[in-house]
Amino acid sequence: MVKPLKIVVTGASGFIAKNLRKYLSEKNIELISISRNNFKNFKYETKIISKNYKEKNLLKKIQNSSALIHLVGIGKQSVNTDYDMINTELTKHIVNLSKKARIKKIIFLSGLGVSPNTSSGYFISKYNAEKQIIDSGLDFTVFRPSYIVGKDDLFSKNLKKQIKSGEIIIPGSGFYSIQPIHVSDVVKVIFESVLQSKFNNKIIDLVGPDYVTFEKYVKLFSK
Ligand SMILES: NC(=O)c1ccc[n+]([C@@H]2O[C@H](COP(=O)([O-])OP(=O)(O)OC[C@H]3O[C@@H](n4cnc5c(N)ncnc54)[C@H](OP(=O)(O)O)[C@@H]3O)[C@@H](O)[C@H]2O)c1
Repeated sequence: MVKPLKIVVTGASGFIAKNLRKYLSEKNIELISISRNNFKNFKYETKIISKNYKEKNLLKKIQNSSALIHLVGIGKQSVNTDYDMINTELTKHIVNLSKKARIKKIIFLSGLGVSPNTSSGYFISKYNAEKQIIDSGLDFTVFRPSYIVGKDDLFSKNLKKQIKSGEIIIPGSGFYSIQPIHVSDVVKVIFESVLQSKFNNKIIDLVGPDYVTFEKYVKLFSK
């Protein structure tokens, strides 16, 4: 008999996690979702509140899960939390936890354009996190997404705020291309990567079907 899926989701209150948990719950997948803050859980979902992902509180509950989808990440630093701490070191901790818990597969969302030649702090932290995942010995899929759009996504929220203020700042020339992808496509692909072994041990760009310059995207969006 095929064992039913049990999937762990970290950063459960985040934008992608919320969409993913809803999608998986509609498929009656058993979930164990971890967040720093309280949230409303779905029917087949176990809620874990954890401020720091300490092993003591988590190990037993996530043991022998089919996959862990690591969706904790920051795109902004503060004096208390920097990229290295959250994007890299917390990922390292989650990898170790997954190994101890005998979780078969880990899925990680990095960033489009991450490479060993990068010089930005954010991309460096994602590159180092990818290394933790790749060297873990677990089956993995690393996705490198472009901007992910959908209801309440950060990118659109930020553009809307700028439109209200009457001025939109276009980073750089604005002529470079982006390939936005809708969150409903992102969650489907993530689920397929749990189901299908052809996704195993791959790094995959996660992008939408159309290239658009940042400037053109902003013009279309503001309409
Ligand atoms: N959205 C995009 O366009 C995009 C593009 C490329 C890559 N990604 C990556 O995809 C992942 C999810 O992105 P998202 O858009 O869903 O981001 P998000 O809405 O900001 O969610 C990230 C979650 O990370 C957790 N988190 C943040 N700071 C933390 C801290 N100090 N300690 C522990 N947990 C912390 C929070 O979960 P809780 O509040 O539940 O604790 C937060 O909701 C991130 O790794 C991001 O870098 C996103």
